Amino acid sequence: MEKVILTGDRPTGRLHIGHYVGSLRRRVELQNSGEFDKIFVMIADAQALTDNFDNPEKVRQNIIEVALDYLSVGLDPEKTNIFIQSAVPELTELSFYYMNLVSVQRLQRNPTVKTELEMRKFEGGTPTGFFCYPISQAADITLFKATTVPVGEDQKPMLELTNEIVRRFNHIYGGDVLVEPKILLPDNQACMRLPGTDGKAKMSKSLGNCIYLSDTAKELKKKVNSMFTDPQHLQIEDPGHLEGNTVFTYLDAFCEDKDFAEFLPEYKNLDEMKAHYTRGGLGDGTCKKFLYNVLNSRFEPIRERRHYWEQRIPEVYEILRKGTEAARERGIQTLNEVKQAMQINYFDDKDLIAEQAKRFATN
Ligand code: TRP
Repeated sequence: MEKVILTGDRPTGRLHIGHYVGSLRRRVELQNSGEFDKIFVMIADAQALTDNFDNPEKVRQNIIEVALDYLSVGLDPEKTNIFIQSAVPELTELSFYYMNLVSVQRLQRNPTVKTELEMRKFEGGTPTGFFCYPISQAADITLFKATTVPVGEDQKPMLELTNEIVRRFNHIYGGDVLVEPKILLPDNQACMRLPGTDGKAKMSKSLGNCIYLSDTAKELKKKVNSMFTDPQHLQIEDPGHLEGNTVFTYLDAFCEDKDFAEFLPEYKNLDEMKAHYTRGGLGDGTCKKFLYNVLNSRFEPIRERRHYWEQRIPEVYEILRKGTEAARERGIQTLNEVKQAMQINYFDDKDLIAEQAKRFATN
């Protein structure tokens, strides 16, 4: 069977290092593994509008930010189709048919949507479009017959729903038109949900605790220096705690043994460094300096590539246009199969027309 990746992001802001460790880094590895027949990465503007319908300018401006972030981390338009969700109308059409297969009660149980509703507090009630976005996400995945969906764990409920829809669809309409996708979660615990620089559970723009992929080296240094560590670790000699210590969480997510050889040769690996910190005698300043060096070595090439593409914006839009064309081509094909299975392909159904002509004909 064909191996196909579909994943994406809402264009509501620049991407931060939480996105990087949670999914972007993995996507680039998957892209370069050569194991996949087709890769689609979607800028989910229509989904972004479900809770930003009153701020289209925000979505519009962030499409290019996300596209630049994609290209700068190393997504290669020769291997990956980057496309814009709203420019693939087949997605909307498929969503409408899926709505029949999902109950309101089922949608109300979605834990990710529940959390978002609590945080978002829509005045005047929940927009229906927002409430239904998990259905539209199932369409995003299945229109491309994706087999693999690399995402963060907050997307698990969407994948569960997608699989339910696929099973129901294939059961009701027969055949095996739709493909059940597999979720691919980050493999490292620290990457599952990278906390903000203040140690709070989630990195979020409104909390001002994000490190962005597009931050300069200077901004990065400032943010690392202000990071939350262990409030009880006052003197260098004091024993330090690793639990909830953001600097060490980030090191868990980013550092490799080779970084010690390069930036902190006193230790062979992170375990040795942690042991010293817990024992006492290792200062936060040294840890932060090391973390800065590690992060900066990862982000330097990303910044350079971003700069390259920033000077070529019309070309970036051309990449999106081509990616969208390729996405539509595949989408139209699946939608035709879906409509045939649902028996709503009237104009293409020669047998139907012939049979009815016969039935109604007077002789
Ligand atoms: N919900 C995802 C997010 O918030 C974006 C998204 C939309 C997506 N459709 C998708 C992710 C399909 C994976 C597959 O970032």
